[in-house]
Amino acid sequence: MHRVTLVDTDICFQQDETHDTLLRAGLSQGIGLPYECNSGGCGSCKFELLEGELEELWPDAPALTARDRKKGRKLACQCRALSDLVIRMRTDESCVPVHAPARQQAVLEARRDITPDIVEFRLRTESPAHFQPGQYAMLTLPGTSAPRAYSMSNLANDNGIWEFWIRRKPDGAISPALFDSFHPGDTLALDGPYGLAVLNTGSPRDVVCIAGGSGISPVLSIARGLLRSPELADRALHFFLGARTRADICGLDELAALPGFDTRVTTYIALSDASPDEGWEGATGFIHELVAKELGPRLAEHECYLAGPPPMVQATTRMLMLDHKVPQEQVHFDRFF
Ligand code: FES
Repeated sequence: MHRVTLVDTDICFQQDETHDTLLRAGLSQGIGLPYECNSGGCGSCKFELLEGELEELWPDAPALTARDRKKGRKLACQCRALSDLVIRMRTDESCVPVHAPARQQAVLEARRDITPDIVEFRLRTESPAHFQPGQYAMLTLPGTSAPRAYSMSNLANDNGIWEFWIRRKPDGAISPALFDSFHPGDTLALDGPYGLAVLNTGSPRDVVCIAGGSGISPVLSIARGLLRSPELADRALHFFLGARTRADICGLDELAALPGFDTRVTTYIALSDASPDEGWEGATGFIHELVAKELGPRLAEHECYLAGPPPMVQATTRMLMLDHKVPQEQVHFDRFF
């Protein structure tokens, strides 16, 4: 058991499992440590080591710059204490987890093809599935070395059901094992929930959801949370989906099944790689361009949620915050790069 003290604060926590990272240990004890990806990519969890010894799980993590390394900065999501530590790290009330992450075994109940390369994996845990719309879990398959972050597409429930829409990445670290060798009845380790890009139930604004590729999973969860929340019953939803081709369009049936779909939801689709023989007469190009065209100056009146591949997230956040001056606190996304 190692004690981690945050200098200049009265905060300390224990790392009592050798396989916990500092980030996980802090969050599981209710400390509001800032983070986004939990995977070494975003840099939100940087801290300075002042005293003690630690192990870096991924010393070359891309979130650390040469300057960071020179200044002795580390990533809380990639470090484990080997002794008591004193660190300098900011905390934030908004990062205090509503549901502390928990590790459990999950069994695959079913899988369902959504598009040619997106599959829904429906997992069940013995404990209730407690999470907020927009959050993710870290999944570790037997025989693979590192957990991977995947977002839930469903809503919290007492039946222990966790649904993930996952896109196959032929060269991904876990994707081939997940798609080719993970069958109903098999189990994996699920650790979660994580993520701060969650549905803001306290906002009076209408909502814009923007999904690209497998970013559909958390955005669908946000839409479900919005349309099923009685306290948000007067909020309209603009749902934007960016896909490559007609075959990649997904999530519309699930949206149409939600209460209030006919009166509160407007859907928009843009295809980036539609070929002429698809007969597509809708919008083409990138999804952030369609969002700007449809809502433009009205965007700043909305709560905006987005998820997708890094280039899509970068282009969309730039469009929202720079071109249309949407305040940062109204733009919700977790950076996985
Ligand atoms: Fe640690 Fe993103 S949360 S690098």
